[in-house]
Amino acid sequence: WAGFADDIRAIIELKKQRNAVILAHNYQTPEIFHCVSDIVGDSLALAREAQEVDADVIVMAGVHFMAETAKLMNPSKTVLIPDARAGCSLADSITPADVRLLRERFPGVPIVTYVNTSAAVKAESDICCTSGNARKVVESLGVPRVLMIPDEFLARNVAAETDVEILAWHGHCEVHERFTPADIAALRAAHPGVVVLSHPECPPEVVAASDFAGSTARMSEFVAERQPQRVVLITECSMSDNLAVQHPKVEFVRPCNLCPHMKRITLGAIRHALETMSEPVEIDPSVAFAARRSVERMLAV
Ligand code: 13P
Ligand code: SF4
Repeated sequence: WAGFADDIRAIIELKKQRNAVILAHNYQTPEIFHCVSDIVGDSLALAREAQEVDADVIVMAGVHFMAETAKLMNPSKTVLIPDARAGCSLADSITPADVRLLRERFPGVPIVTYVNTSAAVKAESDICCTSGNARKVVESLGVPRVLMIPDEFLARNVAAETDVEILAWHGHCEVHERFTPADIAALRAAHPGVVVLSHPECPPEVVAASDFAGSTARMSEFVAERQPQRVVLITECSMSDNLAVQHPKVEFVRPCNLCPHMKRITLGAIRHALETMSEPVEIDPSVAFAARRSVERMLAV
């Protein structure tokens, strides 16, 4: 931690000068998550909290679609992304033109879009969802069939829990698609009694082999409430690092996979963002209204 002290002190001072708050996703490294963030959470919590921010500046310690969502929900604020290259393989897997083609191919079928997408894709959608509310959103529509884009595995995991027929796209999270049921069998053999929590972006066979599946916030709640003796989080590595700080009695078994996009956000990048007010996120006015409507419909569910 000592190596981070200079950046941490500078960021805390810059936040005051700029009247800024830092929103951080659960996959941010512990020095960001625990030392400089004002609000932490999963994608759903960050979208909700962004709406409530009163400060002039929001720094999104997360990936680009999260910063776009914050800007959509609170357009009068300056929203900074410390590294504009922080993307997401799911967001990259689908374009607005793809969504328009899906609508032509499946007329009348509502399009439920994971928040891990660009604002332009959200604008072509009927409603958004996150991993924390996907089933609820799908069932709220009261229809027998929906399109759920772009995460194939999230769609198939939700399909396993609901009677609604779900048509999926072929996007995958490059972090979660790499986990296999064989990994889980090996972990259980090597660490008897380990409780296995997985993210719903994992393949359905991985979720089926786990003890619990849920969004990053649900995983945190599970650990906080149940205090398992040994747990493995089948997700991005910083989840375990952050929870291990809060729950020293719980043994966190690895492995995990790193998200290269989340890892572009560093203390140095946050400090630079606040020093230079870069990079501000702007949303094309032609898509902002419709994209915001999709997110607001989700938040109303
Ligand atoms: P959560 O909404 O569960 O935090 O997930 C976001 C994400 O990018 C997972 O890979
Ligand atoms: Fe995207 Fe996966 Fe990284 Fe989450 S973990 S930001 S879904 S690539």
